[in-house]
Amino acid sequence: MNDIGLYGLGVMGQSLVLNMAGKGYHVAAFNRFDYENTTLRFIENRASSLPVTGYRNVEEFVSSLAKPRKIILMVTAGKAVDSIIEELTPLLDKGDMIADCGNSYYKDTIRRESTLKEKGIHFFGIGVSGGEKGALEGPSIMPGGDKAFYEHYFGRILEDMAAKASDGRPCCTYIGPDGAGHYVKMVHNGIEYSDIQNICEAYFLMKELLGMNNEEMADVFASWNEGRLNSYLIEITAGILRKKDDNGNYIVDLILDEAGQKGTGKWASMEALDMGVAAPSIVESVLARCLSAMKQKRLSASAIFPKQTCPDIPEKKQYLKDLECAVYASKIISYAQGFALMQEAGKEHDWNLDYGKIAMIWREGCIIRAQFLSRIKDAFEEENLSNMMVSKEFTEDLKTCEPGWRRIAESAISHGIYSPVIVSSLLYFDGYRSPVLPANLLQAQRDWFGAHTYHRVDRPHEESFHTKWE
Ligand code: 6PG
Repeated sequence: MNDIGLYGLGVMGQSLVLNMAGKGYHVAAFNRFDYENTTLRFIENRASSLPVTGYRNVEEFVSSLAKPRKIILMVTAGKAVDSIIEELTPLLDKGDMIADCGNSYYKDTIRRESTLKEKGIHFFGIGVSGGEKGALEGPSIMPGGDKAFYEHYFGRILEDMAAKASDGRPCCTYIGPDGAGHYVKMVHNGIEYSDIQNICEAYFLMKELLGMNNEEMADVFASWNEGRLNSYLIEITAGILRKKDDNGNYIVDLILDEAGQKGTGKWASMEALDMGVAAPSIVESVLARCLSAMKQKRLSASAIFPKQTCPDIPEKKQYLKDLECAVYASKIISYAQGFALMQEAGKEHDWNLDYGKIAMIWREGCIIRAQFLSRIKDAFEEENLSNMMVSKEFTEDLKTCEPGWRRIAESAISHGIYSPVIVSSLLYFDGYRSPVLPANLLQAQRDWFGAHTYHRVDRPHEESFHTKWE
Protein backbone atom coordinates (compact mmCIF):
# COMPACT_ATOMS: atom_id res chain seq x y z
CA MET A 1 0.00 0.00 0.00
CA ASN A 2 1.18 3.54 -0.69
CA ASP A 3 1.72 5.92 2.21
CA ILE A 4 0.42 8.95 0.39
CA GLY A 5 -0.98 10.02 -2.99
CA LEU A 6 -0.21 13.09 -5.05
CA TYR A 7 -2.69 14.37 -7.62
CA GLY A 8 -1.33 16.77 -10.24
CA LEU A 9 2.02 16.07 -11.86
CA GLY A 10 2.99 19.56 -12.98
CA VAL A 11 6.45 20.87 -12.13
CA MET A 12 5.63 21.45 -8.45
CA GLY A 13 3.70 18.18 -8.09
CA GLN A 14 6.56 16.11 -9.54
CA SER A 15 9.03 17.83 -7.23
CA LEU A 16 6.88 17.07 -4.17
CA VAL A 17 6.59 13.40 -5.19
CA LEU A 18 10.36 13.11 -5.59
CA ASN A 19 10.88 14.84 -2.27
CA MET A 20 8.54 12.47 -0.36
CA ALA A 21 9.80 9.36 -2.15
CA GLY A 22 13.38 10.46 -1.47
CA LYS A 23 12.52 10.35 2.25
CA GLY A 24 11.39 6.73 1.87
CA TYR A 25 7.62 7.23 1.57
CA HIS A 26 5.75 5.11 -0.97
CA VAL A 27 3.98 7.58 -3.18
CA ALA A 28 1.06 7.06 -5.55
CA ALA A 29 1.22 9.54 -8.42
CA PHE A 30 -1.72 10.59 -10.56
CA ASN A 31 -2.37 13.14 -13.26
CA ARG A 32 -5.80 13.78 -14.70
CA PHE A 33 -4.66 13.90 -18.32
CA ASP A 34 -2.08 12.44 -20.60
CA TYR A 35 -1.02 9.29 -18.73
CA GLU A 36 1.66 8.27 -21.29
CA ASN A 37 3.34 11.63 -21.68
CA THR A 38 3.08 12.81 -18.10
CA THR A 39 2.66 10.07 -15.50
CA LEU A 40 4.44 7.25 -17.31
CA ARG A 41 7.28 9.43 -18.52
CA PHE A 42 7.78 10.76 -14.99
CA ILE A 43 7.76 7.28 -13.44
CA GLU A 44 10.18 5.91 -16.04
CA ASN A 45 12.59 8.81 -15.88
CA ARG A 46 12.81 11.14 -12.88
CA ALA A 47 11.18 8.71 -10.43
CA SER A 48 12.62 5.48 -11.82
CA SER A 49 14.75 4.59 -8.80
CA LEU A 50 12.24 5.72 -6.18
CA PRO A 51 9.21 4.11 -4.47
CA VAL A 52 6.71 5.88 -6.74
CA THR A 53 3.84 4.18 -8.59
CA GLY A 54 1.88 5.92 -11.33
CA TYR A 55 -1.82 5.27 -11.89
CA ARG A 56 -3.86 5.53 -15.04
CA ASN A 57 -7.23 5.85 -13.36
CA VAL A 58 -8.32 7.65 -10.25
CA GLU A 59 -10.07 4.64 -8.64
CA GLU A 60 -6.86 2.59 -8.70
CA PHE A 61 -4.93 5.57 -7.42
CA VAL A 62 -7.25 6.02 -4.44
CA SER A 63 -7.55 2.33 -3.58
CA SER A 64 -3.74 1.96 -3.58
CA LEU A 65 -3.53 4.18 -0.47
CA ALA A 66 -3.16 2.99 3.11
CA LYS A 67 -5.94 4.17 5.45
CA PRO A 68 -6.59 6.78 6.54
CA ARG A 69 -5.91 7.83 2.96
CA LYS A 70 -3.90 10.95 2.46
CA ILE A 71 -4.06 12.73 -0.90
CA ILE A 72 -2.14 15.88 -1.73
CA LEU A 73 -3.46 18.06 -4.56
CA MET A 74 -0.91 20.12 -6.43
CA VAL A 75 -3.07 21.76 -9.07
CA THR A 76 -3.85 25.30 -10.15
CA ALA A 77 -5.86 27.12 -7.52
CA GLY A 78 -9.53 27.77 -8.31
CA LYS A 79 -12.16 25.63 -10.02
CA ALA A 80 -9.80 22.68 -10.60
CA VAL A 81 -9.55 22.14 -6.85
CA ASP A 82 -13.33 21.96 -6.46
CA SER A 83 -13.77 19.61 -9.39
CA ILE A 84 -11.03 17.25 -8.14
CA ILE A 85 -12.57 17.24 -4.65
CA GLU A 86 -15.88 16.27 -6.29
CA GLU A 87 -14.15 13.51 -8.21
CA LEU A 88 -12.33 12.13 -5.15
CA THR A 89 -15.00 12.42 -2.46
CA PRO A 90 -17.16 9.44 -3.52
CA LEU A 91 -14.05 7.25 -3.55
CA LEU A 92 -12.99 8.16 -0.03
CA ASP A 93 -14.07 6.87 3.39
CA LYS A 94 -14.74 8.77 6.59
CA GLY A 95 -11.47 9.73 8.24
CA ASP A 96 -9.53 10.10 4.94
CA MET A 97 -7.85 13.35 4.00
CA ILE A 98 -7.38 15.68 1.04
CA ALA A 99 -4.72 18.42 1.25
CA ASP A 100 -4.56 21.32 -1.18
CA CYS A 101 -0.96 22.51 -1.57
CA GLY A 102 -1.67 25.17 -4.20
CA ASN A 103 -1.91 28.92 -3.65
CA SER A 104 -5.64 28.80 -2.90
CA TYR A 105 -7.61 31.69 -1.50
CA TYR A 106 -8.09 31.05 2.21
CA LYS A 107 -11.84 31.69 2.08
CA ASP A 108 -12.16 28.87 -0.48
CA THR A 109 -10.20 26.67 1.91
CA ILE A 110 -12.55 27.50 4.80
CA ARG A 111 -15.54 26.62 2.58
CA ARG A 112 -14.00 23.35 1.35
CA GLU A 113 -12.97 22.31 4.84
CA SER A 114 -16.45 22.83 6.19
CA THR A 115 -18.16 20.99 3.29
CA LEU A 116 -15.86 17.99 3.58
CA LYS A 117 -16.11 17.93 7.35
CA GLU A 118 -19.84 17.22 6.99
CA LYS A 119 -18.86 14.12 5.01
CA GLY A 120 -16.29 13.05 7.61
CA ILE A 121 -13.34 13.86 5.35
CA HIS A 122 -10.46 16.00 6.60
CA PHE A 123 -9.37 18.87 4.41
CA PHE A 124 -6.07 20.68 4.75
CA GLY A 125 -5.10 23.95 3.10
CA ILE A 126 -1.33 23.99 2.92
CA GLY A 127 0.88 26.89 1.96
CA VAL A 128 4.02 25.67 0.23
CA SER A 129 6.77 28.12 -0.58
CA GLY A 130 10.06 27.75 -2.35
CA GLY A 131 9.26 27.21 -6.01
CA GLU A 132 10.30 24.10 -7.92
CA LYS A 133 13.69 23.75 -6.23
CA GLY A 134 12.16 24.22 -2.79
CA ALA A 135 9.46 21.62 -3.46
CA LEU A 136 12.16 19.17 -4.48
CA GLU A 137 14.81 19.87 -1.87
CA GLY A 138 12.70 21.13 1.00
CA PRO A 139 10.10 23.89 0.98
CA SER A 140 8.68 25.91 3.82
CA ILE A 141 5.30 24.36 4.62
CA MET A 142 2.32 26.08 6.28
CA PRO A 143 -0.41 23.50 7.01
CA GLY A 144 -3.93 24.38 8.15
CA GLY A 145 -6.52 21.78 9.11
CA ASP A 146 -7.45 19.37 11.87
CA LYS A 147 -4.81 19.38 14.59
CA ALA A 148 -5.28 15.79 15.75
CA PHE A 149 -5.06 14.44 12.20
CA TYR A 150 -1.92 16.51 11.67
CA GLU A 151 -0.33 15.13 14.80
CA HIS A 152 -1.25 11.47 14.24
CA TYR A 153 -1.05 10.92 10.52
CA PHE A 154 0.28 13.80 8.50
CA GLY A 155 2.69 16.10 10.33
CA ARG A 156 5.59 13.69 10.19
CA ILE A 157 5.50 13.39 6.38
CA LEU A 158 5.29 17.17 5.95
CA GLU A 159 8.05 17.82 8.45
CA ASP A 160 10.26 15.23 6.74
CA MET A 161 9.69 16.95 3.42
CA ALA A 162 10.29 20.47 4.68
CA ALA A 163 13.53 22.43 4.53
CA LYS A 164 15.63 22.27 7.69
CA ALA A 165 16.83 25.44 9.40
CA SER A 166 20.41 25.83 10.63
CA ASP A 167 19.38 24.39 14.02
CA GLY A 168 18.04 21.29 12.26
CA ARG A 169 14.39 22.13 12.91
CA PRO A 170 11.91 21.57 10.06
CA CYS A 171 10.46 24.62 8.35
CA CYS A 172 6.96 23.28 8.86
CA THR A 173 4.66 23.60 11.82
CA TYR A 174 0.95 23.18 12.40
CA ILE A 175 -0.51 26.65 11.78
CA GLY A 176 -4.15 26.38 12.78
CA PRO A 177 -7.57 25.12 11.65
CA ASP A 178 -9.28 25.39 8.23
CA GLY A 179 -7.94 28.39 6.25
CA ALA A 180 -5.08 29.35 8.60
CA GLY A 181 -2.31 27.75 6.51
CA HIS A 182 -3.38 29.41 3.28
CA TYR A 183 -3.87 32.69 5.12
CA VAL A 184 -0.31 32.62 6.39
CA LYS A 185 0.94 31.73 2.90
CA MET A 186 -1.00 34.68 1.48
CA VAL A 187 0.69 37.00 3.99
CA HIS A 188 4.05 35.40 3.16
CA ASN A 189 3.41 36.36 -0.45
CA GLY A 190 2.37 39.91 0.48
CA ILE A 191 5.70 40.25 2.29
CA GLU A 192 7.44 38.58 -0.67
CA TYR A 193 6.00 41.31 -2.92
CA SER A 194 7.25 44.13 -0.67
CA ASP A 195 10.67 42.49 -0.18
CA ILE A 196 11.05 42.21 -3.96
CA GLN A 197 9.87 45.77 -4.60
CA ASN A 198 12.11 47.13 -1.83
CA ILE A 199 15.15 45.54 -3.50
CA CYS A 200 14.05 46.78 -6.93
CA GLU A 201 13.87 50.33 -5.57
CA ALA A 202 17.41 50.11 -4.19
CA TYR A 203 18.59 48.87 -7.61
CA PHE A 204 16.72 51.68 -9.36
CA LEU A 205 18.13 54.40 -7.10
CA MET A 206 21.68 53.10 -7.55
CA LYS A 207 21.21 52.91 -11.30
CA GLU A 208 19.30 56.12 -11.94
CA LEU A 209 20.79 58.38 -9.32
CA LEU A 210 24.33 57.16 -8.85
CA GLY A 211 24.70 55.84 -12.41
CA MET A 212 26.14 52.55 -11.17
CA ASN A 213 26.62 49.64 -13.57
CA ASN A 214 25.35 46.07 -13.07
CA GLU A 215 28.61 44.69 -11.70
CA GLU A 216 28.94 47.51 -9.16
CA MET A 217 25.36 47.02 -8.05
CA ALA A 218 25.86 43.26 -7.82
CA ASP A 219 28.83 43.95 -5.53
CA VAL A 220 26.63 46.11 -3.29
CA PHE A 221 23.94 43.42 -3.03
CA ALA A 222 26.57 40.75 -2.41
CA SER A 223 28.03 42.84 0.42
CA TRP A 224 24.57 43.44 1.89
CA ASN A 225 24.07 39.70 1.80
CA GLU A 226 26.93 39.38 4.26
CA GLY A 227 25.15 41.58 6.79
CA ARG A 228 21.74 42.05 8.37
CA LEU A 229 20.02 42.03 4.95
CA ASN A 230 21.24 38.48 4.33
CA SER A 231 18.45 36.70 2.46
CA TYR A 232 17.66 34.56 -0.55
CA LEU A 233 16.18 37.49 -2.50
CA ILE A 234 19.25 39.70 -1.96
CA GLU A 235 21.50 36.80 -2.93
CA ILE A 236 19.67 36.05 -6.20
CA THR A 237 19.59 39.76 -7.03
CA ALA A 238 23.40 39.86 -7.06
CA GLY A 239 23.37 36.75 -9.28
CA ILE A 240 20.77 38.23 -11.64
CA LEU A 241 22.77 41.45 -12.10
CA ARG A 242 25.90 39.54 -13.15
CA LYS A 243 24.22 37.13 -15.56
CA LYS A 244 25.01 37.58 -19.27
CA ASP A 245 23.59 35.86 -22.35
CA ASP A 246 25.69 34.13 -25.03
CA ASN A 247 26.33 37.48 -26.74
CA GLY A 248 27.75 39.01 -23.59
CA ASN A 249 24.68 41.16 -22.85
CA TYR A 250 23.35 41.48 -19.33
CA ILE A 251 20.04 39.62 -19.30
CA VAL A 252 18.47 42.00 -16.77
CA ASP A 253 18.90 44.85 -19.28
CA LEU A 254 17.02 42.85 -21.91
CA ILE A 255 13.99 42.14 -19.73
CA LEU A 256 10.91 44.29 -20.35
CA ASP A 257 10.00 46.33 -17.26
CA GLU A 258 6.44 44.99 -17.00
CA ALA A 259 5.75 43.00 -13.82
CA GLY A 260 3.41 40.01 -13.70
CA GLN A 261 1.43 38.76 -10.74
CA LYS A 262 -0.83 35.87 -9.94
CA GLY A 263 -2.95 37.46 -7.24
CA THR A 264 -1.72 36.46 -3.79
CA GLY A 265 -0.23 39.92 -3.09
CA LYS A 266 -3.52 41.44 -4.16
CA TRP A 267 -5.41 39.14 -1.79
CA ALA A 268 -3.16 40.17 1.09
CA SER A 269 -3.84 43.83 0.26
CA MET A 270 -7.60 43.27 -0.03
CA GLU A 271 -7.52 41.48 3.29
CA ALA A 272 -5.67 44.38 4.92
CA LEU A 273 -8.27 46.82 3.64
CA ASP A 274 -11.14 44.55 4.65
CA MET A 275 -9.86 44.27 8.19
CA GLY A 276 -8.78 47.88 8.54
CA VAL A 277 -5.11 46.96 9.00
CA ALA A 278 -2.73 49.55 7.55
CA ALA A 279 -0.33 47.63 5.29
CA PRO A 280 0.82 50.30 2.83
CA SER A 281 4.18 48.70 2.01
CA ILE A 282 2.42 45.53 0.85
CA VAL A 283 -0.33 47.40 -0.99
CA GLU A 284 2.19 49.73 -2.68
CA SER A 285 4.22 46.78 -3.89
CA VAL A 286 1.13 45.40 -5.64
CA LEU A 287 0.34 48.82 -7.11
CA ALA A 288 3.95 49.13 -8.29
CA ARG A 289 3.40 45.98 -10.36
CA CYS A 290 0.16 47.40 -11.77
CA LEU A 291 1.88 50.67 -12.75
CA SER A 292 4.82 48.86 -14.30
CA ALA A 293 2.46 46.76 -16.42
CA MET A 294 1.07 49.88 -18.17
CA LYS A 295 4.24 50.33 -20.21
CA GLN A 296 2.68 52.07 -23.23
CA LYS A 297 0.78 54.53 -21.04
CA ARG A 298 3.96 55.26 -19.08
CA LEU A 299 5.83 55.90 -22.30
CA SER A 300 3.19 58.40 -23.46
CA ALA A 301 3.07 60.13 -20.07
CA SER A 302 6.85 60.39 -19.94
CA ALA A 303 6.76 62.49 -23.10
CA ILE A 304 4.23 64.85 -21.51
CA PHE A 305 5.97 65.06 -18.13
CA PRO A 306 9.68 64.53 -18.73
CA LYS A 307 11.68 63.98 -15.57
CA GLN A 308 12.88 67.23 -14.02
CA THR A 309 16.60 67.23 -13.53
CA CYS A 310 17.80 67.74 -10.01
CA PRO A 311 21.46 68.79 -9.97
CA ASP A 312 22.52 67.63 -6.50
CA ILE A 313 23.91 64.10 -6.95
CA PRO A 314 24.66 62.60 -3.55
CA GLU A 315 28.06 61.39 -2.46
CA LYS A 316 28.19 57.70 -3.32
CA LYS A 317 29.74 56.16 -0.23
CA GLN A 318 27.36 57.82 2.22
CA TYR A 319 24.43 57.25 -0.11
CA LEU A 320 25.05 53.50 -0.22
CA LYS A 321 25.26 53.41 3.58
CA ASP A 322 21.97 55.29 3.79
CA LEU A 323 20.43 53.02 1.19
CA GLU A 324 21.24 49.92 3.21
CA CYS A 325 19.50 51.57 6.17
CA ALA A 326 16.47 52.49 4.05
CA VAL A 327 16.12 48.96 2.69
CA TYR A 328 16.55 47.41 6.13
CA ALA A 329 14.11 49.75 7.87
CA SER A 330 11.55 49.30 5.07
CA LYS A 331 11.97 45.55 5.43
CA ILE A 332 11.23 45.71 9.16
CA ILE A 333 8.16 47.83 8.43
CA SER A 334 6.87 45.51 5.68
CA TYR A 335 7.18 42.48 7.96
CA ALA A 336 5.57 44.44 10.80
CA GLN A 337 2.59 45.05 8.52
CA GLY A 338 2.39 41.41 7.43
CA PHE A 339 2.51 40.22 11.02
CA ALA A 340 -0.05 42.87 12.05
CA LEU A 341 -2.35 41.40 9.42
CA MET A 342 -1.89 37.90 10.86
CA GLN A 343 -2.36 39.22 14.40
CA GLU A 344 -5.73 40.65 13.38
CA ALA A 345 -6.78 37.58 11.40
CA GLY A 346 -5.72 35.31 14.26
CA LYS A 347 -8.15 37.16 16.53
CA GLU A 348 -10.90 37.43 13.94
CA HIS A 349 -10.91 33.71 13.07
CA ASP A 350 -9.89 32.47 16.51
CA TRP A 351 -6.88 30.71 14.99
CA ASN A 352 -4.50 31.04 17.92
CA LEU A 353 -1.57 31.70 15.57
CA ASP A 354 1.94 31.41 16.97
CA TYR A 355 3.81 34.29 15.32
CA GLY A 356 7.21 33.20 16.61
CA LYS A 357 6.76 29.74 15.10
CA ILE A 358 5.59 31.22 11.80
CA ALA A 359 8.75 33.35 11.65
CA MET A 360 10.85 30.25 12.39
CA ILE A 361 9.42 28.20 9.52
CA TRP A 362 10.22 31.02 7.11
CA ARG A 363 13.91 30.85 7.97
CA GLU A 364 14.62 28.34 5.20
CA GLY A 365 12.94 26.90 2.13
CA CYS A 366 10.68 29.81 1.25
CA ILE A 367 11.18 32.81 -1.03
CA ILE A 368 11.51 35.30 1.84
CA ARG A 369 13.96 33.11 3.77
CA ALA A 370 16.39 35.17 5.78
CA GLN A 371 18.38 35.14 8.99
CA PHE A 372 16.37 38.17 10.05
CA LEU A 373 13.38 35.90 10.76
CA SER A 374 14.98 34.52 13.93
CA ARG A 375 14.87 38.06 15.28
CA ILE A 376 11.14 38.27 14.55
CA LYS A 377 10.67 35.19 16.69
CA ASP A 378 12.59 36.92 19.49
CA ALA A 379 10.42 40.01 19.05
CA PHE A 380 7.24 37.97 19.48
CA GLU A 381 8.51 36.56 22.74
CA GLU A 382 7.62 39.93 24.26
CA GLU A 383 4.30 39.64 26.01
CA ASN A 384 1.27 41.22 24.30
CA LEU A 385 3.34 42.76 21.55
CA SER A 386 1.08 45.18 19.68
CA ASN A 387 3.26 45.49 16.59
CA MET A 388 6.69 44.16 15.64
CA MET A 389 7.84 47.70 14.90
CA VAL A 390 7.69 48.67 18.57
CA SER A 391 9.35 45.50 19.89
CA LYS A 392 12.60 45.94 21.83
CA GLU A 393 14.25 43.77 19.18
CA PHE A 394 13.76 46.35 16.42
CA THR A 395 13.41 49.79 18.01
CA GLU A 396 17.15 50.52 18.12
CA ASP A 397 17.58 49.46 14.49
CA LEU A 398 14.75 51.71 13.39
CA LYS A 399 16.12 54.64 15.39
CA THR A 400 19.62 54.32 13.93
CA CYS A 401 18.29 53.74 10.41
CA GLU A 402 15.87 56.66 10.50
CA PRO A 403 18.16 59.55 9.39
CA GLY A 404 19.62 57.63 6.42
CA TRP A 405 16.19 56.26 5.51
CA ARG A 406 14.82 59.80 5.42
CA ARG A 407 17.68 61.02 3.22
CA ILE A 408 17.00 58.20 0.75
CA ALA A 409 13.25 58.89 0.68
CA GLU A 410 13.95 62.62 0.18
CA SER A 411 16.36 61.90 -2.67
CA ALA A 412 13.83 59.60 -4.35
CA ILE A 413 11.15 62.30 -4.12
CA SER A 414 13.35 65.21 -5.18
CA HIS A 415 14.75 63.29 -8.16
CA GLY A 416 11.35 61.88 -9.12
CA ILE A 417 12.49 58.26 -8.80
CA TYR A 418 9.50 56.04 -8.04
CA SER A 419 10.27 54.24 -4.76
CA PRO A 420 6.90 53.43 -3.22
CA VAL A 421 7.93 50.81 -0.65
CA ILE A 422 10.81 52.83 0.81
CA VAL A 423 8.71 56.00 0.94
CA SER A 424 5.44 54.46 2.12
CA SER A 425 7.20 52.42 4.81
CA LEU A 426 8.63 55.66 6.16
CA LEU A 427 5.18 57.24 6.01
CA TYR A 428 3.75 54.29 7.96
CA PHE A 429 6.50 54.69 10.53
CA ASP A 430 5.71 58.40 10.83
CA GLY A 431 1.98 57.78 11.08
CA TYR A 432 2.38 54.97 13.61
CA ARG A 433 4.67 56.93 15.91
CA SER A 434 2.53 60.12 15.81
CA PRO A 435 0.78 60.76 19.12
CA VAL A 436 -1.46 63.26 17.37
CA LEU A 437 -2.86 63.15 13.84
CA PRO A 438 -5.24 65.53 12.08
CA ALA A 439 -8.10 63.04 12.37
CA ASN A 440 -9.83 65.47 14.76
CA LEU A 441 -10.50 67.72 11.78
CA LEU A 442 -11.46 64.72 9.68
CA GLN A 443 -14.03 63.66 12.27
CA ALA A 444 -15.41 67.19 12.38
CA GLN A 445 -15.88 67.15 8.60
CA ARG A 446 -17.66 63.78 8.77
CA ASP A 447 -19.86 65.05 11.53
CA TRP A 448 -20.66 68.27 9.59
CA PHE A 449 -21.76 66.62 6.37
CA GLY A 450 -23.05 63.30 7.66
CA ALA A 451 -23.74 63.58 11.40
CA HIS A 452 -21.27 60.70 11.85
CA THR A 453 -20.47 61.84 15.43
CA TYR A 454 -17.10 61.99 17.17
CA HIS A 455 -15.44 61.24 20.52
CA ARG A 456 -13.98 63.99 22.71
CA VAL A 457 -10.52 64.20 24.27
CA ASP A 458 -12.06 65.23 27.58
CA ARG A 459 -14.81 62.59 27.82
CA PRO A 460 -14.92 58.75 28.07
CA HIS A 461 -14.45 56.96 24.74
CA GLU A 462 -17.88 55.27 24.98
CA GLU A 463 -19.62 58.62 24.59
CA SER A 464 -20.36 60.03 21.11
CA PHE A 465 -21.04 63.64 20.24
CA HIS A 466 -22.64 65.52 17.41
CA THR A 467 -22.50 69.26 16.75
CA LYS A 468 -24.96 71.38 14.80
CA TRP A 469 -22.22 72.95 12.70
CA GLU A 470 -24.38 75.52 10.84
C1 6PG B 1 6.46 30.88 -3.18
C2 6PG B 1 5.91 31.89 -4.15
C3 6PG B 1 5.00 31.30 -5.15
C4 6PG B 1 4.39 32.34 -6.08
C5 6PG B 1 5.33 32.92 -7.05
C6 6PG B 1 4.70 33.83 -8.09
O1 6PG B 1 6.33 31.17 -2.01
O2 6PG B 1 7.03 29.87 -3.60
O3 6PG B 1 5.19 32.85 -3.45
O4 6PG B 1 3.99 30.63 -4.45
O5 6PG B 1 3.38 31.74 -6.78
O6 6PG B 1 6.37 33.58 -6.43
O7 6PG B 1 3.90 34.80 -7.53
P1 6PG B 1 3.50 36.06 -8.40
O8 6PG B 1 3.28 35.57 -9.82
O9 6PG B 1 2.24 36.61 -7.84
O10 6PG B 1 4.65 36.98 -8.33
